[in-house]
Amino acid sequence: MAGKEKDGTRPVVEAKIARKNGSRSSKLPLLSSVFLATFATLYLSNFSLRNGNHAVCSASGAASIYTVDESNPMVECMTIAGSRIVHTGTRDSMQNPLGDNAFTRTVGSNSIARTVLEFLGVYPKIHHLAPGSIVVPGLADSHGHILEYGYKMNLPLDGAASIDDVINRVKAYINAHPDILNDPTRWIEGVGWDQNRWEGKQFPTAADFDRDPLLRGRPIALARVDIHAYWVSTRVLELMGELPDTVEGGSIVRDAAGNPTGLFVDNAMQLIPKPAWSEAQMREYFDLAMRDAVKHGLTSIHDAGSSPEGIHFIKKLAEEGSIPIRLYLMGMVNSDEYWGHQIPRLENYGKHGMLNVRSIKLVTDGALGSWGAALLEPYTDKPSEQGIMRSSADVLGKLVTQFWNDGWQVNIHCIGDRANHVVLDIYESIIERQGGNVTEWRPRIEHAQIMTLDDLKRIGRLGVIASVQPSHATSDMGYAEDRLGPERIRGAYAYQSLLQASPLKVLALGSDFPVEGIDPLLGFYAAVSRTDANGESPHGPGGWFPEQKLTRAQALKGMTLDAAYASFAETTRGSLAPGKFADYIILDKNIMDPDAPFQDILRTAVKATVVGGRLVYGQL
Ligand SMILES: *[C@@H]1O[C@H](CO)[C@@H](O)[C@H](O)[C@H]1NC(C)=O
Ligand SMILES: [Zn+2]
Repeated sequence: MAGKEKDGTRPVVEAKIARKNGSRSSKLPLLSSVFLATFATLYLSNFSLRNGNHAVCSASGAASIYTVDESNPMVECMTIAGSRIVHTGTRDSMQNPLGDNAFTRTVGSNSIARTVLEFLGVYPKIHHLAPGSIVVPGLADSHGHILEYGYKMNLPLDGAASIDDVINRVKAYINAHPDILNDPTRWIEGVGWDQNRWEGKQFPTAADFDRDPLLRGRPIALARVDIHAYWVSTRVLELMGELPDTVEGGSIVRDAAGNPTGLFVDNAMQLIPKPAWSEAQMREYFDLAMRDAVKHGLTSIHDAGSSPEGIHFIKKLAEEGSIPIRLYLMGMVNSDEYWGHQIPRLENYGKHGMLNVRSIKLVTDGALGSWGAALLEPYTDKPSEQGIMRSSADVLGKLVTQFWNDGWQVNIHCIGDRANHVVLDIYESIIERQGGNVTEWRPRIEHAQIMTLDDLKRIGRLGVIASVQPSHATSDMGYAEDRLGPERIRGAYAYQSLLQASPLKVLALGSDFPVEGIDPLLGFYAAVSRTDANGESPHGPGGWFPEQKLTRAQALKGMTLDAAYASFAETTRGSLAPGKFADYIILDKNIMDPDAPFQDILRTAVKATVVGGRLVYGQL
């Protein structure tokens, strides 16, 4: 026994070498067939050989696996069997590759367990990290738009420096697509312009398209970067015919003579007769989004607004087993009437259990960039405006209560302080007066972008989850204070305040892609630095309102365990701990190193993305 114990403490690397040399085979006859039979019944079922049981170990002398597991935050090695993590710990503790489990207890010794596994050829293959590389749990995006991302990649308009720049991109797109070039009735749709980047910061008009003979007469609809406004061509205005004078919760921009200029904001966008997406288009958009998601280390996405058609499409893919990562869809229908019955409820659904639908999304107001965020007081830079409530408090209150009654998690888009205030009133009424159990219900506010200082405290007191997008802070920091003034800005993009207010210290992080990039490290960088990509901010290189920065550990938790909590998944993922799914990524730089410059984060690449023990991107 003593000999075996000593043997059992040998480093795994040595054990591998010993195995190659065949020095262990002499022990095998000692094992009774009972052990093997026990092993087979206990393990071969959930210990998939095809999935390649494996282990990941840090470069020697380092502990570079960041687990987000409070009890064991940094470890040297992690062992995976099938889709689950079975062990994390020091290199020495790797002697038992299966952890303390029933098989080991049956055979009574770690080293016997290992010997059996080696003999059967299922001893985990060990991958050693390159020096400087780290492992973190697979990243989650708590708020993105999957199909819209692929749609946008079709004709992206981000960064366009002028109206002419947009026009030139549209022309290049037409010239590159002969089917569109030769058919002037085909719709041309793009996403990403932002008038705040242009001289004069004026909204564009339909007439801007008419100046160019290639564009004149074509139906064109281009969404603003936040998808809260559409700029359409004269042909689209013709197709729309007679327009209502006003639209509840939206606006039709008009010239001095009262004619529509071709700009439709928030609810008025629904007037635009864009053709519905075909199934082939959805497939193309979906595949594009998944390709970029795994490339950037996303193993989970919360889709912040899935139509019933989109859900049915993704449901079929789940049944086929063709979803590479975990998807958490928030059902959404644009209606003031209750629509819960239009959304199928799905839990760990599909061939690999990757799909969950148990939440819905509601929209309260518009966005700050287009003065659509609903404010309690007028805009500082546009005193005639106070933003747009897309639904009345009354309609929202009834909807939220009914969704809560039917057991749906409710996630509500709120940007302005009025939107946040109204929704907190509704949540407060359910949680404090109607007996809503916040732990079971987990209501969320998406964006929680501009809040009064009182509401920053109230969201915490109620235990409502804030789901925020740190790159919005750095995208908006150039104009947010103009819009809001010096007082209100203190409750805006206040991520550290939101985190501290949360009783469970939960702050779910996301990107709102395609409004921002899909790469979660952009959000990580924005959260910890509060500067633009050049390291600058209106408050200098120390960051914009630096007291609202998150630490690297807080940001990582927001993109992993907190996102899991916000999707009822904290017991099965979000950290690297025995029993949880093996969802992890390998990064080629240490984004967690407090001494490394922030900009190294932007130069970090994902080397491998693993979901449920399966490599979906890169190389181990
Ligand atoms: C709320 O639900 C949780 C989880 O089911 C439970 O532990 C807790 O006691 C409940 N709280 C109240 C106030 O009922
Ligand atoms: Zn969104």
